[in-house]
Amino acid sequence: MTLETLITDCEALRRRAESEIAAVTSMDGWTAVRTALVGRKSGELSKLMAALGALPAEQRREAGASINAAKQAIEAALEARKAELESARPAGPSLDLTMPARAAWRGAVHPVSLVIDEIGDIFRALGFTVALGPEAESPWYNFTALNFPDNHPAMDMHDTLYLADGGVLRTHTSPVQVRTLQSYAPPVRILAPGNVYRRDFFDATHAPAFAQLEGLAIDEGITFADLKATLAHFARAFYGARTPTRLIPSYFPFTEPSGQMEVYFDVGDGRGARWIEIMGCGLVHPAVLEAAGLDPERYSGWAFGMGPARIAMSRYGITDIRLLYDSDVRFLEQFA
Ligand code: DAH
Repeated sequence: MTLETLITDCEALRRRAESEIAAVTSMDGWTAVRTALVGRKSGELSKLMAALGALPAEQRREAGASINAAKQAIEAALEARKAELESARPAGPSLDLTMPARAAWRGAVHPVSLVIDEIGDIFRALGFTVALGPEAESPWYNFTALNFPDNHPAMDMHDTLYLADGGVLRTHTSPVQVRTLQSYAPPVRILAPGNVYRRDFFDATHAPAFAQLEGLAIDEGITFADLKATLAHFARAFYGARTPTRLIPSYFPFTEPSGQMEVYFDVGDGRGARWIEIMGCGLVHPAVLEAAGLDPERYSGWAFGMGPARIAMSRYGITDIRLLYDSDVRFLEQFA
């Protein structure tokens, strides 16, 4: 090989290398082209270097400069193309790994349901089962069988929502007592959760539709001591083992004697611990047992009724019952 040919070959290799490098579209292709051009063993540039040794000594300097110029140009083209390939976005939809993840929205159990479930667990451990009744009820189950006298103010149009067919939207879950006793022979121990309706305006302490939870235990020989012990056990299981409880006298047509259970508890509203009414209760009135077809000489029992929304308010320091029935997820999701 003459000096002239070597210089021409260097020039040709440089031009061909530049177009090959420009045509490369992946890092794998780039590596292959680099090996073919400047690879130490069989690269094209190495072949020109080998030819250098065959030239007369006085020509080697000029030939070496030519080869070096080609080598530098090829290497610069390789580096530039590599930088381009590395900064290029991958094909297809782009993926921004710095973007914050979108939080998956998780629902939560409603606080009123939470309370019903928790109370249910406490009574289930005592052998109680769940009983349900209809929300559209007859006045007989809602009032008469529960020993309400015919002129009782609760039956007034101002308090009760009457239906066109003469029925009522039940004003409490107590009618489930009678329905259960008609269907099942004692011993009976049931918990009856459900919605009830009153002709009330929505305000901080009243809702026109709300949940109630009824309890009933009927057997031979049940006394007021059983009621007191069971309800005190419940109150301590729910509010804490050292929570003081008390029963104060009250009146309901369907119980005799009637009471109201209170717990000494700090509801967390900033007013400190005080006596909080948690339920009405009493020994089932003999007239109710009779209406359900049971012999009051043989059977006795106790019942209670509570408002899970009120209980939830005491539990979570909620001061407005509307929060519980407004279905605002910003409030409700806190109970997840
Ligand atoms: N039914 C009553 C009400 O709606 C609550 C109640 C009180 C239920 C005493 C009972 C009871 O079973 O024994 O206000």
